[in-house]
Amino acid sequence: MAEIGVIILAAGQGTRMKSDLPKVLHRIGGKPLFLYVLETAKLLQPRRVAIVIGHGADAVRHAYSGAEVTWVTQEKQLGTGHAVLSAKHNFAEFPGDLLILSGDVPLISEPTLRTMVARHREEKAAMTLMTAVLAEPRGYGRILRDGQGAIKATVEEKDATEEQRRIQEVNAGAYVAQRDFLFKTLEQVKNDNRQGEYYLPDIVGIGLGDGRKITTVEVGDPREMMGINTREELARMEKTLRERINKRWMDAGVTLKDPDTTYIEDGVTIGRDTIIGPNTQLCGRTIVGERCQIDGSAYVMDSEIGSEVHLLFSVVLMSSRVEQGARIGPFAHLRPGTSLAANVHIGNFVETKEAKIGEGTKANHLTYLGDCTIGRDSNIGAGTITCNYDGFAKYKTQIGDRVQVGSDTTLVAPVCLGDDTYVATASTVRHDVPAGALVYNERQERVREGWTEKKRNKMKGTKK
Ligand code: UD1
Ligand code: CA
Repeated sequence: MAEIGVIILAAGQGTRMKSDLPKVLHRIGGKPLFLYVLETAKLLQPRRVAIVIGHGADAVRHAYSGAEVTWVTQEKQLGTGHAVLSAKHNFAEFPGDLLILSGDVPLISEPTLRTMVARHREEKAAMTLMTAVLAEPRGYGRILRDGQGAIKATVEEKDATEEQRRIQEVNAGAYVAQRDFLFKTLEQVKNDNRQGEYYLPDIVGIGLGDGRKITTVEVGDPREMMGINTREELARMEKTLRERINKRWMDAGVTLKDPDTTYIEDGVTIGRDTIIGPNTQLCGRTIVGERCQIDGSAYVMDSEIGSEVHLLFSVVLMSSRVEQGARIGPFAHLRPGTSLAANVHIGNFVETKEAKIGEGTKANHLTYLGDCTIGRDSNIGAGTITCNYDGFAKYKTQIGDRVQVGSDTTLVAPVCLGDDTYVATASTVRHDVPAGALVYNERQERVREGWTEKKRNKMKGTKK
């Protein structure tokens, strides 16, 4: 494909979103809207990409860290035509055609864009615009055609007559244009319309009036050109995207027991023969291995999960790493910095944070493991707590290999339990324990026979 430049319009506030956030920063599939457009545009290997920003410009700019785009500021949002014009100087000597996309139309696909560019070039058109036929065209600009079906002009919904509003063919908001035609014609656009804005698609009527050739390409699947102007549309788009992502993973060999309640964000990858139960959210940069089983109600963010891992019902994993064969849950919470080696078991009501746990170690019940490293084949009894915080600073706990920590143990960090140590149940460990040692707290157990009955009798006298 010959040289192409891209202009992405992302300066608008998105009034209809009723939000403090610029519209293009609203997210679907966990990713800001305009990044979808940018990533798709980049697949065409454009020579230059300019993004027009204005409302919340800094925030939008910070949402993308790549270097290969030019940010253009449109000080006042006077309309889409004005927005494109503000990028004029960035394409002053640009040799190719320009592709113009909206930052709020995230699902537009690469093949669709390629088709549009190819048609534009075949037809040697001055401009080509993408259209779609919608059952519910409300909110979009309409395409006006003459008796022969040739395009005459476009009209925005707000400026349209009743009759025009019944037209179902709409302007999809994606265009390819010859550079000179585009910028010259934009200079002639006026803002004498209901919104007082300079409309980019007005150049269709002007161009045709000047005898220039304008073509249209109808998009195959109208869902991909849906724009987002309201929260309702955002939710609908999220659903469309989710269906697309879920289908992709099912096609790749992942079982989703209930795709309707499975939420897999755009940046996630999943290995084949993994089985995912209902109400699962896989977010951020999460990687799930092969043959894993996720029972359901799992929330996994930015985590790396090896193969054959079993996440039992209702677990939360945040920025954690879990190796092959580990078993987690039900009701477990792995907080950032958790790293579990192969075959570790983390059971009900266990919380971990900055915890490195060695192969085969188990912490099966009611435990807090924070700021600690634990060796392999150790067993952490029910109710064990690493006391890592004294109200001022955090301290580390170190536990060796093959350590037996009895139930109801408090490990007062900083503290180190050597390999093969044995902690008696209900111990408070404040000092390092050398390898192979037993540690217990001196405490006498006393039994008073008949105590309960005596107590009850005594209490009877006092009770009304
Ligand atoms: C626009 C089209 C409409 C089309 C629809 C398709 C115009 C006038 N209308 O309408 O025909 O059916 O898209 O989705 O173009 N923007 C700026 N600066 C501005 C104004 C807008 O950068 O001054 C950006 C917005 O951030 C947005 C894009 O341009 O990303 C489209 O603007 P929006 O206001 O959403 O236009 P629509 O009313 O949807
Ligand atoms: Ca829009």
